[in-house]
Amino acid sequence: MNINGNTILITGGTSGIGFEMAKQLLALGNTVVITGRSEERLAVAKAELGAAHTIVCDAANPDDIQRLHKHMTLNFPNLNMLINNAGIMHKINLQNHDYDAHGLTQEIDTNVKGPIWLCDTFLPLLKRNRHAAIVNVTSGLAFVPLPISPIYCATKAALHFYSLSLREQLRNTNVQVFELAPPATQTTLVDTFDTEEMKGISFMSTEDLVKSFIQGVERNVYEICPGQSAQLRFMSRFFPKFILKQLSISVDGMHQKAVK
Ligand SMILES: NC(=O)c1ccc[n+]([C@@H]2O[C@H](COP(=O)([O-])OP(=O)(O)OC[C@H]3O[C@@H](n4cnc5c(N)ncnc54)[C@H](OP(=O)(O)O)[C@@H]3O)[C@@H](O)[C@H]2O)c1
Repeated sequence: MNINGNTILITGGTSGIGFEMAKQLLALGNTVVITGRSEERLAVAKAELGAAHTIVCDAANPDDIQRLHKHMTLNFPNLNMLINNAGIMHKINLQNHDYDAHGLTQEIDTNVKGPIWLCDTFLPLLKRNRHAAIVNVTSGLAFVPLPISPIYCATKAALHFYSLSLREQLRNTNVQVFELAPPATQTTLVDTFDTEEMKGISFMSTEDLVKSFIQGVERNVYEICPGQSAQLRFMSRFFPKFILKQLSISVDGMHQKAVK
């Protein structure tokens, strides 16, 4: 797919991967609209990005998505790429946590229901364009879980499978379905993890990650797995018990902290 001259909607463009996507995609001559939950954070991002358009939309709120759709249909009818990037990640001790029922499953609302609602809402608009694409941002942890983030990994596995099905259902249409499964990437998402929990994991920069993403889209690679993400996918297929054990080491540390 050509990666210039498109009209692109990126959910969660105020920081990290979404922000860097906006930056690189703008530089390539695309029209870019970014979303986020806060007007203030969007204004800060816009001040740095310059040409980006912004609109508040909580991806976990179906009413917000309807409002976003109205806005895009009116102001950006040429929308031909939806990037479902917004996501949250919690560390949860399943035996000992302070979340209420809603908080416990909040990642499901943002990381799974949000992208599904967005795909469903925007598909008719995307289908109006000759060349269109949906990009779902999953994770290397969609292939094998990091057990200290149990719900997060379940959401990414769900989005991975949803993306496989969506791609098959849209195969005779103008809408291509891409999945970007980033490896550990240096953003605020992983700030709550300490060095012990991240031992042995190397972090990719957002710049390199987005470069790989753009190359993947240009080459029509539908499952883009940069860096260690490709290793996780390989290991999960051929050595599933071994790789799960490796990623489970931090569970002991979590339990030790809980008894202190
Ligand atoms: N960093 C990693 O190691 C890594 C690895 C694999 C996959 N990923 C995935 O990459 C994506 C981007 O994460 P990141 O690392 O760039 O994290 P980040 O820096 O924390 O950025 C997350 C973005 O999502 C937005 N967001 C969160 N909840 C939202 C909601 N309900 N509605 C709308 N926007 C929302 C945030 O905006 P506001 O806070 O301004 O609303 C922010 O712009 C996520 O899907 C994440 O799961 C990250």
